[in-house]
Amino acid sequence: MKTKKKFSVTKQNLWVDLLIAGGFLLASQPHLTGMAIHEWLSLGVGVGFLTHILLHWRWVYETTRRLFSKLAGQARVNYVLNLALLVAFTLIIFSGIMISEEVLPLLGLQGVHGGIWKSLHTIASEAVVWLVGLHIALHWRWIVTNSKKYLFGWLPKRRQTAVQPSEAAV
Ligand code: HEM
Ligand code: HEM
Repeated sequence: MKTKKKFSVTKQNLWVDLLIAGGFLLASQPHLTGMAIHEWLSLGVGVGFLTHILLHWRWVYETTRRLFSKLAGQARVNYVLNLALLVAFTLIIFSGIMISEEVLPLLGLQGVHGGIWKSLHTIASEAVVWLVGLHIALHWRWIVTNSKKYLFGWLPKRRQTAVQPSEAAV
């Protein structure tokens, strides 16, 4: 009889995290992908970010509630950084839509060329690389532990090289 595999929230988060990380890397290289892919992919990454935030909604709610009372320093740092990420990505996606060369014309609208929106898009997308880097660094242990468990669990475990007590006695 087939046994049902248990659903893992952590595994689900790991896959969403990997998808948005890959999407973000590609979105940061519009000269490699071309403009059409850049715009559609980035909008998709935007949906990925929304999913990511919704999956951590409980954390957002609880941390906001305790922000001005008892809260661990690390959670406070994460909160400020996550807020900065939210502002930066909202700016990037909004300014991206304003200067759009592919998506907006499909809707019969004309994006603006150059000017403040273009500068904002460039500056925010440069700044966000550092924010994402920091965000990943602060969750590095989680990423390594769960990647080992859920992505590379099929690899054979490293052989124990330590001498067993029974062998040492011989
Ligand atoms: C390339 C982009 C991003 C990557 C690779 C990424 C990755 C991660 C990872 C690995 C975690 C911890 C593991 C987990 O529970 O999923 C996490 C947690 C979290 N991320 Fe992101 N994230 C990204 C963008 C964002 C953005 C734009 C926001 C917007 C606010 C955000 C908000 C959060 C929140 C609220 C948490 C849970 C609380 C915490 O531990 O900080 N993330 N993210
Ligand atoms: C994850 C989100 C995004 C990131 C990281 C990102 C990043 C970038 C980067 C690094 C550039 C090159 C800037 C330069 O050469 O000065 C660029 C250009 C551009 N992006 Fe985005 N972008 C994102 C979202 C979007 C969205 C959603 C749209 C439109 C729907 C968009 C439209 C454009 C356009 C039209 C340009 C060309 C600007 C020009 O050279 O005149 N971007 N983006």
